[in-house]
Amino acid sequence: MNAARRTRLDQLPEWHALAKHREEFGDTHLRTLFADDSGRAERFGVQVGDLYLDYSKHLVTDETLRLLRELAAASGVAELRDAMFRGERINVTEDRAVLHTALRTPAAAHVRVDGEDVVQRVHAVLAKMALFANKVRDGHWTGHTGKRIRTVVNIGIGGSDLGPKMAYEALRPYTRRELDFRFVSNVDGADLHEAVRDLDPAETLFVVASKTFTTIETITNATAARRWLLSGLGAGEDAVAKHFVAVSTNAGKVSEFGIDTENMFEFWDWVGGRYSFDSAIGLSLMVAIGPDHFNEMLAGFHCIDEHFREAPPEANGPFLMGLLGIWYNNFFDAQSHAVLPYSHYFSQFTAYLQQLDMESDGKSTDREGRPVNWQTGPIVWGTPGTNGQHAYYQLLHQGTKMVPADLIGIARPAPGLGELAGQHDLLMANLFAQGQALAFGKTDEEVRAEGVADEQVPHRTFPGNRPTTTILAEELTPSVLGQLIALYEHKVFVQGAVWNIDSFDQWGVELGKVLAKRLEPALTDGADVPGLDASTSSLVRRYRELRGR
Ligand code: F6P
Repeated sequence: MNAARRTRLDQLPEWHALAKHREEFGDTHLRTLFADDSGRAERFGVQVGDLYLDYSKHLVTDETLRLLRELAAASGVAELRDAMFRGERINVTEDRAVLHTALRTPAAAHVRVDGEDVVQRVHAVLAKMALFANKVRDGHWTGHTGKRIRTVVNIGIGGSDLGPKMAYEALRPYTRRELDFRFVSNVDGADLHEAVRDLDPAETLFVVASKTFTTIETITNATAARRWLLSGLGAGEDAVAKHFVAVSTNAGKVSEFGIDTENMFEFWDWVGGRYSFDSAIGLSLMVAIGPDHFNEMLAGFHCIDEHFREAPPEANGPFLMGLLGIWYNNFFDAQSHAVLPYSHYFSQFTAYLQQLDMESDGKSTDREGRPVNWQTGPIVWGTPGTNGQHAYYQLLHQGTKMVPADLIGIARPAPGLGELAGQHDLLMANLFAQGQALAFGKTDEEVRAEGVADEQVPHRTFPGNRPTTTILAEELTPSVLGQLIALYEHKVFVQGAVWNIDSFDQWGVELGKVLAKRLEPALTDGADVPGLDASTSSLVRRYRELRGR
């Protein structure tokens, strides 16, 4: 892969064709695009698995979409996708295969890395996870004193936290309610303190999730949790085996920590951290929702993998979403992208996507080591929709910045809401109304027609023309969650491929880690840090004064 140096993106004729098209597009309004084309809503909609994507409220014509597809073709998106699925080492800076798709490949299929069929290994780990999850769920896994487990605490950070936490929240109606699940990530001792302060160590199980098992936050928290457990139980090291399991690629470090590798669930270096919650990193989730629902979720992922691999670009959800993002990011100077789910169960969805998208595509060096001359990954942000409406939607409607957004809706209320399910139409009416208001706004004639005083008219006018994709699913099932995540994973892939960046490394997080390690002794003991800049040095001095050191 990647033998020939690629023509720079901004030197491709397809790029220039899009720039010219953008000029011609000018301020064309969605009001006009809809007025001129009665079939637009139907034509610019696509069914992707169980997800319906309405992309008609985008500032695009058939010509725009054609030009974007030509850019994708010229950028080799499909070739890179196929290389990923074949297990080629497309993570060039780490020289690794990128095979999160193998994590959800049915057992009968084969995917080889260095000659070895990884699908068999994936399914062996899934079987081991299922055995363990069922034991905890049924109360057959007991703690050191013989009590059954009541609380599972996942200790991990980044991809070893955000995915399981997001999915646990999303699938709460499917969880075993008598078990409690908590997620600890922050090295701030307050996080672990609040998670365990009301727990009985005899009924608590820790899942230490870390791909590398060297991440300082996780190892620090896991070490403190072990201290809390042993002092709470008044027990020796032999109690650890019943209360700690690990998920990692690094068996050596796991056993160095004191966890029996019998109680370790393995995954592999060809799974990136932010692409890993469908691996053993999802162990706490599997305990929560059970192996069957976990497998349904994997099947949902797989369905979109197949769609991404096989659907033609014009009907391919990840291609469409990725290319629409390129259109705004690179030709409208949109700096950010909002993800606005209209489901309370998606409280952690955007936080999860932030890592997925921003750690993947927040790069400024291309795959051949040259600085990029074009914008890459957007700033991804958002919260569940109705809350956002009463906070930052003002800026979306009348601010000076263009913020393309995804509005995600689930047609059926979650199971078990009882009479509260009656509120669902109001929730969904809000979603549809926002898409409508953002797209079509309110003209000053409309405002005047309401008898508004002249001086008030500009304030009450909504320009509209703010693009959104509406994603609609019938129910928030494990399968639908898997489908949505795979859709976003592959969207991020498409964008990284067009920008010619390595979406699978994360060198940008390294410097801060190294500097923090170097600074800690200065904070604790006043140790000298050679070459420390004046600002940081003064902050360290003030910190020490505040701490009375
Ligand atoms: O620091 C970034 C990162 O490497 C993420 O990519 C990863 O998800 C997270 O840290 C946690 O890493 P680990 O699972 O190895 O503890």
